[in-house]
Amino acid sequence: MKNNIQIAIDGPAAAGKSTIAKLAAEELGYTYIDTGAMYRAITYKAIERDIDLENEEALTQLLLETKIDLRPSVNGQLVFLDGEDVSDAIRSNIVTSSVSAVAAHATLREEMVKRQLKMAESGGVVMDGRDIGTHVLVDAELKIFMSASVDERAKRRQLDNERRGIDSHVEQLKKEIAERDKMDSERQASPLVQAKDAIYLDTTELSIMEAAQHIIQLAKERMS
Ligand code: CDP
Ligand code: CDP
Repeated sequence: MKNNIQIAIDGPAAAGKSTIAKLAAEELGYTYIDTGAMYRAITYKAIERDIDLENEEALTQLLLETKIDLRPSVNGQLVFLDGEDVSDAIRSNIVTSSVSAVAAHATLREEMVKRQLKMAESGGVVMDGRDIGTHVLVDAELKIFMSASVDERAKRRQLDNERRGIDSHVEQLKKEIAERDKMDSERQASPLVQAKDAIYLDTTELSIMEAAQHIIQLAKERMS
């Protein structure tokens, strides 16, 4: 019986990855790592510093000088950038529409992956993102590729935005989500793609609880 396994969850925007990953991690007593928050944090800093988002060298250098901490809290995971809580700031529209351009740079990704591997060193871990099963936790015992219809994902993101007081419209969100998925899937450096050994999980008709329970069940099978 193996108690601590690695669970990799990838998939397109707003499929439910972070919500479900966090729940599954809590239930299993594992560390949860939201890699999207790390890409969002460096994008936020680059925008603040007015750095050209096409400048791979400048962005990679910026990341090397930047501390990004993910800390669990009762209200979900908090994100600290050089000691400052940026958990809400990294969800703004400007960060959301810029992050895929930043995440496309290969050398920046290399540094991110190094950090993610270090974070995953001890104990059980649930990590979610775009390249976790294909490039980060390549030997993860359980890999999930999570998706949902684009209509459902846009509706969910709209509700998220409402809760955060961000103004948005479903049709516009649908367009933005599709564009971001396209950029993430078509980039050269570790694009969003289902790992050969990943299980496909469509959450369109699933509640958060149902999806989390499904993953926990699969994890328990991998442990025994
Ligand atoms: O939560 P949402 O689906 O909107 O996105 P996220 O998980 O916060 O990720 C934001 C962006 O970071 C993605 O659209 C990707 O461009 C990038 N990302 C990535 O390239 N690789 C990862 N492992 C995680 C995120
Ligand atoms: O991390 P990712 O972008 O894949 O998605 P998320 O931020 O976890 O989920 C987007 C929104 O969909 C959140 O508000 C979730 O609570 C919601 N959700 C849902 O209503 N039903 C599901 N089965 C999964 C997520």
